[in-house]
Amino acid sequence: MSADREGDSKAAERSVSRREAIAGLGAVAAAASGVFRPVPVLASTPEWRADLFAPPVPSLTQSRMLGVPFNKHETVRLAVIGTGLRGRSVLGEFLAVEGVRVTALADIVPEKAARAAKMVTDKGHKAPALFTNGERDFERLLQRDDIDFVYIATPWEWHVPQAVAAMRAGKHVGVEVPAAFTIEECWQLVDTSEATRRHCLMMENCCYGYNELLVLNMVRAGAFGQLKHAEAAYIHDLRRLLFEDKDEGIWRRAPHLSRDGNLYPTHGLGPVSQYLGINRGDRFDYVVSMSSPEFGLTEYRAAHVPAGSPKYNERYRCGDLNTSLIKTQQGRTIMLQHDVVSPRPYDRINMVSGTKGAFRDYPARVYLEGMAGGERWNAIDTVKAQYEHPLWTNVGELARKLGGHGGMDFIMCYRTVQCMREGLAPDFDVYDAASWSAPGPLSDASVAQGSAPMRFPDFTRGAWAGTTSTG
Ligand SMILES: NC(=O)c1ccc[n+]([C@@H]2O[C@H](COP(=O)([O-])OP(=O)(O)OC[C@H]3O[C@@H](n4cnc5c(N)ncnc54)[C@H](O)[C@@H]3O)[C@@H](O)[C@H]2O)c1
Repeated sequence: MSADREGDSKAAERSVSRREAIAGLGAVAAAASGVFRPVPVLASTPEWRADLFAPPVPSLTQSRMLGVPFNKHETVRLAVIGTGLRGRSVLGEFLAVEGVRVTALADIVPEKAARAAKMVTDKGHKAPALFTNGERDFERLLQRDDIDFVYIATPWEWHVPQAVAAMRAGKHVGVEVPAAFTIEECWQLVDTSEATRRHCLMMENCCYGYNELLVLNMVRAGAFGQLKHAEAAYIHDLRRLLFEDKDEGIWRRAPHLSRDGNLYPTHGLGPVSQYLGINRGDRFDYVVSMSSPEFGLTEYRAAHVPAGSPKYNERYRCGDLNTSLIKTQQGRTIMLQHDVVSPRPYDRINMVSGTKGAFRDYPARVYLEGMAGGERWNAIDTVKAQYEHPLWTNVGELARKLGGHGGMDFIMCYRTVQCMREGLAPDFDVYDAASWSAPGPLSDASVAQGSAPMRFPDFTRGAWAGTTSTG
């Protein structure tokens, strides 16, 4: 995948105008008449369900939200809280799916909400209601009774308060990554989802990447045998963005001053957790973590930030490269890394190793025992025909044209709408949101205590063991 530069200040606008410019793609773009024809949602096939469903839940876990289907929604009435770069980009993807109606938008910056509202009306939809009266105006938005699903794309510290409030108001929630900052917050999400019977999905788009779904298919077909180890990362040079005086630069540098650990664990960890069947037959047990020294932000600031800037009062704590090792209850291991301040090519590693073979991404390569040519990597093309995921086979071409992160953003939105319209269980749930976010605070604690092991809570309260292992 090309550099998945998140938060590119031009990304939302670029992807929208590119979409609008696609000629001949009657299903997506505004046709010459100006009439917008969104993408119809195809019926999911039984194979998709086998692939992506959380398995059925045994009776002991009935109060849990594992495998709980959405009630059927003919139309998914969507609200967005946070219409910055990511909020508008994902709004554009949702608007390309049939059966979505955007009813309300909230942002503390009225111009950003207005830009998002224009995206909605440009597609021929009714203007959504806007809530731009300060940081708690989202609470008024949540009082509306014409919202089924609230997508939250605000700065990290707002994710949990807004997700909890949305569930309490009876709405399903899709929250951006990471879902939570602390273990207590992870529990708040779990407890609220269970108490309200509303889903809380962390919108981990990387789970829907082409390679990730292909590998998931291979894992579930047994191509790699028994899985024993996986590796995942978020390695992405964000130095320029972190020092900007707009967008993420306003808030995303602050955790580098107060924390030392893995600040953004979920993009790499989400997909490999699905390979390993985490919370569905296995779960994270404990983590040990260590950080390299901090050099990156200090050195970049000296070279790029004008003398006299208040940014020189900042002292960065977070080591440049954080490496964590997670042990699972089934004894498997995951190596997880985070580095957003080094000049390195983009990499989520996305590696899995089993008794019959292995996969490693960036670039994508595969080795299955007995492959011609001996013990060396083979191009991913050798397995595409057999294992391409049906979601990509069916709407992949369109997803690539829409463009968000190579198409995975569209697949994520399409699949979310499909699950809600058909009354399916979502592909991941609040337990995944909590588990995939937890290495953030646990890595901080481990680093602070000389890499001591930190136990993961069992967010499923035992239900993980009663579900089928998919790994
Ligand atoms: N999944 C991905 O690939 C991906 C990519 C980029 C960003 N993200 C995530 O998306 C989220 C938003 O990132 P972004 O790049 O859009 O940042 P951004 O700064 O561009 O947008 C955040 C928006 O939230 C608004 N906001 C702040 N407080 C608010 C409040 N109380 N109520 C309503 N609106 C409020 C801001 O005005 C801004 O418009 C972050 O959690 C980030 O980690 C995910």
